[in-house]
Amino acid sequence: MRDKLKSFFTEHWKYIAVSTACKLNLFDNLQESKTGKQLAKELSLNEEKLLLLLNALHNADYLDKNGESFKVNSFSDILTESNPESLKYACLNWSEEHLTAWQNLDYSIKTGNSSFEMLYEKPFFDYLNDNPEKLHAYHKAMYQYAKDDYKTLPDVIDFSKYKSIMDVGGGYGAVLENIKAKNPNLECILFDLPKVIEKVTTHPDIMKISGNFFEKIPSHSEAVVLSRVLHDWNDEKASIILTNCFEALPINGTLYLVENCSDKIKIDLSLLSLNMTAICESYERTSTQYISLCKNVGFQFDSETKLNDLQTILNFKK
Ligand SMILES: C[S@@+](CC[C@H](N)C(=O)[O-])C[C@H]1O[C@@H](n2cnc3c(N)ncnc32)[C@H](O)[C@@H]1O
Repeated sequence: MRDKLKSFFTEHWKYIAVSTACKLNLFDNLQESKTGKQLAKELSLNEEKLLLLLNALHNADYLDKNGESFKVNSFSDILTESNPESLKYACLNWSEEHLTAWQNLDYSIKTGNSSFEMLYEKPFFDYLNDNPEKLHAYHKAMYQYAKDDYKTLPDVIDFSKYKSIMDVGGGYGAVLENIKAKNPNLECILFDLPKVIEKVTTHPDIMKISGNFFEKIPSHSEAVVLSRVLHDWNDEKASIILTNCFEALPINGTLYLVENCSDKIKIDLSLLSLNMTAICESYERTSTQYISLCKNVGFQFDSETKLNDLQTILNFKK
């Protein structure tokens, strides 16, 4: 038991070593076999210290080693930028500011406030908005997660009954790309902050509209998707977004809320809830809590559908 505990204390070192390799583009540059000396020269790194990292990555099964040469294996190849199924930015997402916010979790538990906001002096999405590289990296990460998570969305919901649908806070458009692929005639509208919309390179037939969901959501479609948005916000802010969705929809319009409902899945969300608390003063809600938030702004609950092991779709009518 004592040994198990002692190794647990430093388990996070492995993630930090792997995310550091992503940050330094090591995996991208080890698609062909290279020695530490060659790689250090190519990337202008300290050879001796790089070797320590390469050996640690090999021992953790993230690199193959043959003699003095290292090369990506099937695992770390997924962390290269050129892999079509890449998770490189998903991996990087939890490093740097996220780790620093986690290290200050005690502040959130003591005060109830976001440790991220205390450290970086502004709310998470404002911080991203003011740091173009971080904003782009965050949205690439969300896109990499979303490509997997929303694959079956157009199979479990029949979107063909609508003329148009809007994804509110849709980031780089992964949800709509999946929906559009199955419903090519459906008008798809992506709504997000101006600096996000500026950078989107999604399907040319997806219409893009920029704005702020705390101010106004345009009235453009009979159905709105709100996926993994409300979990970023406390009840007060979430209610403003929902009110603006309600205002944007016609009578009988539909809201699809896609969230990790903690009561509907076997996966334990307690650590993710702590993450949301540290980053944005929020937490992972139950379906009952989401339904109550939506009812309070006027929506009627219609039905629920399981999307995958993590997410549930809650369907509401105006
Ligand atoms: C956690 S991401 C979810 C992205 C995507 N819906 C998904 O499920 O992968 C939250 C999204 O809300 C957007 N967002 C944050 N604040 C916003 C605001 N004030 N107005 C519009 N969009 C906003 C972010 O840019 C981001 O795309």
